[in-house]
This record gives sequence, structure tokens and C-alpha cells, in this order.
Amino acid sequence: MKAITLIAASAVSLAAAAQTPVYLDESAPITDRVADALSRMTLEEKVALSHAQSKFTSPGVPRLGIPELHMSDGPHGVRAEVNWNDWGYAGWTNDSVTAFPALTALAATWNPSLAASYGKAVGEEALYRDKHVMLGPGLNICRTPLCGRNFEYLGEDPYLTGELAVPYIQAMQNQGVAACVKHFAVNNQETWRDNVDVVLSDRALYEIYLPAFRRAVQDGGAWSIMGAYNQIWGEHCCHNARLLNDILRGEWGFDGCVITDWGGAHDTRQAALNGLDLEMGTYTDGLQSDNSLGYEYYYLANPYLDLIRKGEVPMEVVDEKAGHVLTLIFRTAMNRNKPWGSMCTPEHYATAKAIGDESIILLKNNGLLPLLPDKAGRVLVVGDNATRRLTDGGGSSELKPKDYITPLDAIRAKYGAENVAYARGYMAGPPVWGQDIPVPRARLDSMRAEAVAMAKDADVVIYIGGLNKNATQDCEGVDRVKYSLSYDQNTLIDEILDANPNVVIANISGCAYEMPWIKRAPAVMHISYLGTMGGASIADAISGDVNPSGKLPYSIPVRLADCGAHASGQEVCFPGVENAVPDINRGMAPQVEYQEDILVGYRWHDTKKIPALFPFGHGLSYTKFDYGKLTLSDKNLNGDGTLTATISVTNAGPVAGKETVQLYIGDDKCSVLRPVKELKGFEKVTLAPGETTEVTFTITPDDLKFYDPATSQWTVEPGKFTIYIGASSTDIRAKSTFNYSK
Ligand code: GLC
Repeated sequence: MKAITLIAASAVSLAAAAQTPVYLDESAPITDRVADALSRMTLEEKVALSHAQSKFTSPGVPRLGIPELHMSDGPHGVRAEVNWNDWGYAGWTNDSVTAFPALTALAATWNPSLAASYGKAVGEEALYRDKHVMLGPGLNICRTPLCGRNFEYLGEDPYLTGELAVPYIQAMQNQGVAACVKHFAVNNQETWRDNVDVVLSDRALYEIYLPAFRRAVQDGGAWSIMGAYNQIWGEHCCHNARLLNDILRGEWGFDGCVITDWGGAHDTRQAALNGLDLEMGTYTDGLQSDNSLGYEYYYLANPYLDLIRKGEVPMEVVDEKAGHVLTLIFRTAMNRNKPWGSMCTPEHYATAKAIGDESIILLKNNGLLPLLPDKAGRVLVVGDNATRRLTDGGGSSELKPKDYITPLDAIRAKYGAENVAYARGYMAGPPVWGQDIPVPRARLDSMRAEAVAMAKDADVVIYIGGLNKNATQDCEGVDRVKYSLSYDQNTLIDEILDANPNVVIANISGCAYEMPWIKRAPAVMHISYLGTMGGASIADAISGDVNPSGKLPYSIPVRLADCGAHASGQEVCFPGVENAVPDINRGMAPQVEYQEDILVGYRWHDTKKIPALFPFGHGLSYTKFDYGKLTLSDKNLNGDGTLTATISVTNAGPVAGKETVQLYIGDDKCSVLRPVKELKGFEKVTLAPGETTEVTFTITPDDLKFYDPATSQWTVEPGKFTIYIGASSTDIRAKSTFNYSK
């Protein structure tokens, strides 16, 4: 009997050994795989999963064959390889990539299908570079034009941001690459970013600053999210009980992994108990003292292990944390069904070009544009940004492009090099991290004089200046210090306009800036950072080979004081006041108050009746669009019903073009303050000359609701609502009203 039992037992164990462990079985539900893996792991292995092992990697479980996670910036493409243990670049020669346009450019396209193409392409390049988690997209709302990182975000409106974030995330994750949406939450400035405590109402939080993150989680299915550096309610976002446990997990049902911003963790107990899963970047970037003690001294390393062994962290919390990291690994690094990726392909370049083409916003045009190549005559290009590689600098979103077409090169190719002269006109210092190295005034004066002299001899001048990625321009870690352009550009522009009436202003920037010369400038384009194909998009838009269709994703105030964040002029509203509240990290922290509350951007301009220089949603075309009559399916919307709003749009001009039809809804009478109108829908249509199409929007009660802090519910009061159909938030082409009843 014994022999038979032994044989049977060994057969069973062989069979068991031959059977794939559940955690390695890709056909098994991920929850089962996680449970099985946890059952096999030691406590030390579970703790190791929750903190970095290098600058941009976290460990797997070597003993079980569970691979490590490789992460990379940034939202606009795969960052060049960074050293294992510090911020320095590794100097590889195989990590040049496609530099896609900045996310404000994507936002300016108002084109969700381009957002999907964008996410797919970045995902493919991440795969090729063996990255599992891409640290983006950034979903913070543009509250002030001075925020250094507006160029990494999708503008001032939560609906537009969400509509473009979802397809980007879905398409990237379809490649088996995780998006890590950031910076969660209310990281709307760079000044004191590592600990400023943000004070805002729950209405502003839920109606303006959270919706895009909620969409990213609930509709985009984001696999990871990055806690912001700042504080809310006196707690750092990276380990904030209400933000992470109550809202992200409790209200939204997030099943992914919460990752710190690099250096965003500051306390073991809070990190252990307030919803953080993976600590990155501590002690390695100046946000904390550079600590040579190594990764075992991270908050979620030995100090965490000690807390667990003292019984102060329940094992189910330890398993939940490790489980979220394992889930991320199973979805990405251990996902054998994902494609192989590709790099710098014609398709990726075409995607970058298409986004660039559709992002260029024609703010003003007296007819000087399009500048037809056979009629342009002697062209003078002026401006540092005509030749500067604008993928350099700006912080963590910096890229090393394999190719970069400058506007000057593209314009010379378009108009004939012999017809195109260049004068730099001004210059900015090199993109040294955290610096905007001043240029001697004498140098600027002589450059300006040269450009103005040359302008006198040109038939047309194309001015390509704006901001750049230096500190105090469009750059992480430091906000802009003024709303106006730097390097005496306004003087230069004025003097060029004195010298020549035919000037195309084609400035490049990641957000709004002051335009004192706007009345004199015959044609003005607003262009974001477009990356590899940027110059080609700019030359095509100027020449008319591309008909501009971009629409502003943020307002351009006449002056900074017209912006809600700056209207009061109080420092407490921006950037805040120092030493205001306790901070677990630095003793005391600054505090900033969002006193404009829900009235951000056009919501402020409309409600306070302060016209923007150029309003949210504005963008002209080389053709003309006529809107027909607005018809509603019903004048009443009841309970959970829906109604449709339909309008025809006709291309009444000479060339094909794209128009973004925008739907805004206003609650005409409410017991609480509400903006005059809010964006609730949009559709971008392509029309040949003479062509007409119909656009139909479906409106539901959810489109009417506001957040009620008293009940922590979204609600709507019965009454009259107005529908606005616009070519921008102020260029309203049709209006109608309907009545809502419960
Ligand atoms: C930076 C940025 C974040 C970036 C991370 C890694 O401080 O805030 O956006 O992804 O660290 O570079």
C-alpha cells in the first residue's frame, strides 16, 4: 500500500508542479493571480514592491519570476534614458524618439480621435523602449496662465480635458502600457509645489479639478495615478486619506496603483494607511535631502516594515498595497499579449503632424493669410523659436527627438530658401534646468536692430517668438513671473510693425500671454509646442496647405488681472502665502486659496462680464462656417429623460475646413452660484466648400447638475436652462431654452 501511496503522491506533486501556478496563468482573472502571488510572497517581498529600486523602476519578485516595473516620462513621448540612481541622462544612443505635440496642442485640436492616435503612438514607442508605465497624461486644469506646466495639460475646462484624456489613455493601455494620470490633485502651480496647501471649496474640487481624473479612472480605466506634491486639507496628496481612500477608491472605484510624484512621500504612517501604493523618487531630486542611505530607507521600506511588525499596519492593508502593484505588473510587464511596439515610424510622424496641423489656432486674420508661396515675395522670418529646439527643457517632459523640423527650415522649403531671410531678433539663454540665463541687453538691442532693418526690405515678415522651456517660461518647477513676453519681444514686435505692415505673428507658447500689439498685427496664430513635425505644421498653416482648425483650450485674458486667480490681486490667491500651515515635511507650508472658486477661465469671464482678448473655444479658419437653426426634440426634459439639440453647419467659404461646434448649457435660475454657461459637448466636422452637415447633441440631466457639498451629491434644480451653440464660448450662433422638471 505504502509504495502505491508514494507513487500516487509523487504523481500528484508532479502534476501540481507541472500545472502553471495561478499567478503565472495569463488566462486567470488578475484578482486570482494577485491572490495566488501574495500567498507565495514573504512580508519583505510585499514591502519591497511598494518602493523604488532605482530612479524609474520598482522591483518585482525575483524569486517568483515576477518582473520589475520600468517607468518613463512623459506625456509627449518617451523621455531619454535616465541614470539608474540619479536625474542625469544615461547618454544612450538608441533612445531618440518621436516628440509629439504638447498636450495643450492636443487640447487645441478638440479631436478625440487624434487623442486616441496620440495615446496609441506613445504607447507603441514606450513598448519599443521597454517601458511599462508612462507618466502622463497630465490632467490638471489651467487655473492661471502663469503656471509653469500648463503646456503639459489640456486647458481650463474639465469636460474638454476629460473628453481628450479618455481616448488617449484607452489607446495607450490597449498597447499594454499603463497611463499614470497626474498630478492628482489640484496641482495648478509650480511655486512651492512640493508642499503648498490648496484651499478650495468642494464645489470647485468636484466641478472643476476632479472631473477629468474621474473620467480617466471610470471611463479611461487608468491603471495608475500619480499623487501630486501639494497638500489639500493639510495632507500631502501622495498619502491623503480623503483624496485617495474616500474619493479615488471609495467614490470612483479605482482598482489601479497610486504612485507618488517623485519625492512626494513624507511620512511612513500616512503612506502606509492613506492609500499610497508605490513610493518613487524620495531622497533623489532635491525635493528631499539627497540621501545616500539608499532605497531601504524610503518611507515604504524599512520604516514601513518596522510599523507592520509592530502591528500598526493591518496585513490586509499590506496585501492591498502590494496587490495594486502586482495588478499593475500583471497588466503590463507580465502581459505577454501586448504588441512589440515601434519607434519613429512614418505613422508616428504622421500622427504628430496631424495633431500639430489641427492644433494651430488662427486668432486673427485681416486677409494676409494664407501666404501663398507664389505670391509671398521676399519673406523675412524673425524669432528665436524659428530655430530653437523646443523639446529641450521644460522639466520632466523633455524629449530627445530623432528628428526635429524647425519652422525656419520648413518655411524655406515651402517658399524657396532663396526667398526667405532670417533674423533671430532676440534670443533666450540655453535650456539649463531651472534657469533662464539672461542675455545682455546690448546683445538684445543689436539683434533687434538687425531684424528691424531687415524687415524694411521684406515683402512680409513671419515672427516666430513666444515662450520657451526655460525657467519662468513654460517649465516645471517654477512658474512664470509675468504675463508678458520676455527678451523685449514686445518692443521688437512693435518695431517690426513700424517697419513693415505685413507681419504674421506665429508665436509658440504653452499658454496665454499678453498681446499689447494685437490691434496692429494683421494676422496672429497661437501655436503650442509641436515637437518633431512642428515646423512642417506651421509652414503648412501659414501657406494654406493646412487650413487652421484649432480652438483655444484656455482663455487669453487681455491682462492678468482679468483672470479669476489674479483678480483680487491678493497673494493668497496666487501663489499663496508662506509659513501658513503646518507641514509634515518642512515644519510649515504655504497656503493658496482658490477664491475664484468654480469660476475658472471662461466661467469667470462670462459671469463677471470681463471679456477675454480671445475667448475659450475661439479659432478662425481660411473658410467661413454658417450655422443653421437650432432645433430641440422637446422643450421639456423630465426625470431621467433626454432631449436632442440639432443644428446644421455649412462651409460657406472657398476652401475645405474643419469646424468645432460647441454646446454650452446654462442654468438660468439656481439657488447657488453657477457659471453663465458650461461646455457640455462638442463635435469637430470636416466640410468641403458648400457642404452642409447636421450636428446633434443628446442632453441628459447629468449635463445640468452641480455638486452640492451639503449632501455630497450631484443635483439639479427644476427650471429653465439655455442651450448655446457656439463657434467659441462667446461666438454664439444659436440659442434655445428648455425646461427641466424632476
Ligand atoms: C517630476 C514631475 C512628474 C514626473 C516625475 C518623474 O517631479 O512632477 O510629472 O513624472 O517627477 O520625472
